[in-house]
Amino acid sequence: MSNLSLPLPLTVLGVGYLGAAHAACLAELGFDVLGLDTDPRRIDALAAGQLPFFEPGLEPMLRHHLDSGRLRFTTSYHEAAAFGAVHFLCVGTPQRAGADGADLRQLDACVSRLAPLLTSPCLVVGKSTVPVGTAAALAEDLVRSAPAGHAVDLAWNPEFLREGRAVEDTLRPDRIVAGVRSPQAESTLRRIYAQPLADGVPFFATDLATAELAKVAGNSFLATKISFINAMSEICDIAAADVIHLAQILGADSRIGREFLHPGLGFGGACLPKDIRAFAARAEELGVGQSTRFLREVDAINLRCRSRVVRLVHDLAGGSVAGRTVGLLGLAFKPDSDDIRDSPALAVAKALQEQGARVSAYDPVAMDRAREEYPSLNYADSVTGAAEDADVLVILTEWPEFCEADPDLLAKCVARRNMIDGRNALDPVAWREAGWCYRALGRPGSDPGAIHLTERTRPS
Ligand code: UDX
Repeated sequence: MSNLSLPLPLTVLGVGYLGAAHAACLAELGFDVLGLDTDPRRIDALAAGQLPFFEPGLEPMLRHHLDSGRLRFTTSYHEAAAFGAVHFLCVGTPQRAGADGADLRQLDACVSRLAPLLTSPCLVVGKSTVPVGTAAALAEDLVRSAPAGHAVDLAWNPEFLREGRAVEDTLRPDRIVAGVRSPQAESTLRRIYAQPLADGVPFFATDLATAELAKVAGNSFLATKISFINAMSEICDIAAADVIHLAQILGADSRIGREFLHPGLGFGGACLPKDIRAFAARAEELGVGQSTRFLREVDAINLRCRSRVVRLVHDLAGGSVAGRTVGLLGLAFKPDSDDIRDSPALAVAKALQEQGARVSAYDPVAMDRAREEYPSLNYADSVTGAAEDADVLVILTEWPEFCEADPDLLAKCVARRNMIDGRNALDPVAWREAGWCYRALGRPGSDPGAIHLTERTRPS
């Protein structure tokens, strides 16, 4: 397989978010790629050049490589097994229903359908995020179930892409991690990633378990950093300090760094929340639960951000949201994505509606998904529509169009000029000068006549 003169046909098994991006980028790197999924609707959409989710830059790349003939899609495992010299496993590993651990059923199903069809030497490469130890067990399963036996090798090559930057993160990642069991597997992966490696991307060849851990440890660190600054924001609320200034000061220390130190409504999405829970659950299974116990606290701090924003809305609504009109800007878990999985924005919207607020929500791209999951929410068709007659306006996702909103223009739409900046995305001075009562987590309230949340608890 590492012979450079032979073609290297690749399959991508599971073409959801991760797999679709990976398949298109592998075609971009010059390979012939066959994407497989068991969902025929997803395959039909992709084969027609339609991306079933929002990801900047990915749809043109998908279409380009459908046209070039380098990228095709199928629902047939037989076709995939016959085609691929390397098979990338990209299926989802969501949180288990009612538990913290990872649900590996899609991965198990994928391997058990593929393995009996592997009649010639090949490399299976896991990209999905899995509990440490999964890859070693899968390697044994493959050898046991594949007719080619020991000629089927397994490697683990975790994916670090961010939603909204999938193309760039796949083609020019910060690093490539290859958990391998043989020099052949390493050279095959080096060949696949020859272009990024030539561009100077560092390549780490390691064992399977370290590669699995690289992903969950990385996401745990990022989540911890976000929750650290959000914990500081809780202290700032009480101490009348300014968490944005604090983050700038901390971030100026090159050992700490500015990234992932942005305070606000906290993290959500399909990765960080479920990955830290699954990691903590796995560490407990392995008898080292104390090593990841802090991740429970990281999770709790993060979830508290949501209730802190809800509390701010209550405060600005005069103590209760019942019957109040609350305009919500943003539903996606972050900008440049239509993903609402574990979205802090949607959690706040649901909580306010359940507490009796008349909620009116707007998001530039996530409305369809939100409507599907939560049809009873009131949806507006623009920023001004969401602001219409609002007693309180809240930014929940920092889309550029919200950050650039004109406070004078919005002042004409709302019933009361109350702005809660759930993502610390606005300039408080500009909004206060336009007559708004501006509030954000971890930032002192200094509007004339505003409720000073810290007064009761400030030390005398
Ligand atoms: C994350 C990891 O970054 C990526 O490496 C991994 O492959 C998948 O999980 P993603 O979920 O796409 O990527 O989003 P990311 O940009 O990491 O943001 C995660 C969440 O943290 C978002 O809800 C974002 O709003 C929040 N966040 C991020 C903060 O609240 N503060 C920050 O400073 C940074």
